[in-house]
Amino acid sequence: MPGRERMKNSLIKPKMPLVICLAFLQIILITTTRCKKQAEKPSAETQISEEAESTAPQWTIGMSQCNLGEPWRVQMNLDVKNAADEHPELRVIFKDAQNDSLKQRAQIEEFINAGVDLIIVSPKEAAPLTPPVAAAYESGIPVIVLDRRILGDKYTCFIGADNKKIGKAVGEWIVERLGGEGRVVELKGLMTSTPGQDRHTGFREGIKGSEIEIIFEADMKWLEPEARKEMESALARFEKIDLVYAHNDPGAHGAYLAAKAAGREKDIIFVGIDALPHEGQIYVKQGILGASFEYPTGGRKAVQIALDIFSGKTVDKEITLSSRVFTKENIDQGGEWLK
Ligand code: FRU
Repeated sequence: MPGRERMKNSLIKPKMPLVICLAFLQIILITTTRCKKQAEKPSAETQISEEAESTAPQWTIGMSQCNLGEPWRVQMNLDVKNAADEHPELRVIFKDAQNDSLKQRAQIEEFINAGVDLIIVSPKEAAPLTPPVAAAYESGIPVIVLDRRILGDKYTCFIGADNKKIGKAVGEWIVERLGGEGRVVELKGLMTSTPGQDRHTGFREGIKGSEIEIIFEADMKWLEPEARKEMESALARFEKIDLVYAHNDPGAHGAYLAAKAAGREKDIIFVGIDALPHEGQIYVKQGILGASFEYPTGGRKAVQIALDIFSGKTVDKEITLSSRVFTKENIDQGGEWLK
């Protein structure tokens, strides 16, 4: 090799490892910053991919549903989803607590850590959900509580129908239907949840002064199989039952199934609450239920309130939804509004 060539090579060669070294250094730097960024990000379930981030909606709502085992709750989520789908600026992350208050507490905490813009929660029970909701609210995240309440006032807005009023209307309807006297079974919703408590106290107010006798009462925890089991006990103990008031339609249907299995369903009137078009209203049409009282999910309303909050409007702390009663006589006219 001529002397000049050798010299050129010897000048270039030592530079090659340096370039490679620099390139490696750069790769290491990029990877560590990426990892760091990812570590700062929320859990995998709630994180937005980098690609999606550029087209991401403006607002993220975390929705914690206490369970999806009942048609009414499936409907609530659907109402939220359908309403949110009309607004491309919204994105909703749905979580199902599977009827477990501890799981639901954790979900609220995950939403706080993920830094969502707003939380919608339909709590299983009031007491265990109060601290995480208060923590979210105090950290500056607006919280809309749907259907079942929490304790205290550390939330942004509560949306739901008036369960005391519905319970009272049920009581008055029963007094009229039974001509002021009769033997009634009350199958209560979970009594650690506020609708169960209110549907009970309202009902007792509605039958006050009448000769209605509550011969059997039990907590069926909002669940059809539990209601069926409790009704089997009631049927075994009492030869004459005039009416069953269940705090929801699945409960009323469970009681009906128990009575049917005992061949006694024709002697008893069944009354429930929820009146979903594809559940309670059908039962009324089929003559399984004597009446079903509507309990609107409030899902659509919650999205509307969320949008108001995002646009900086002040919202009411309490929003009460109206309710109707459906009977065989009025169902084709769309039921009758409670006054
Ligand atoms: C569903 C449900 C409904 C009832 C509501 C009360 O979980 O039991 O049937 O109306 O919850 O919170």
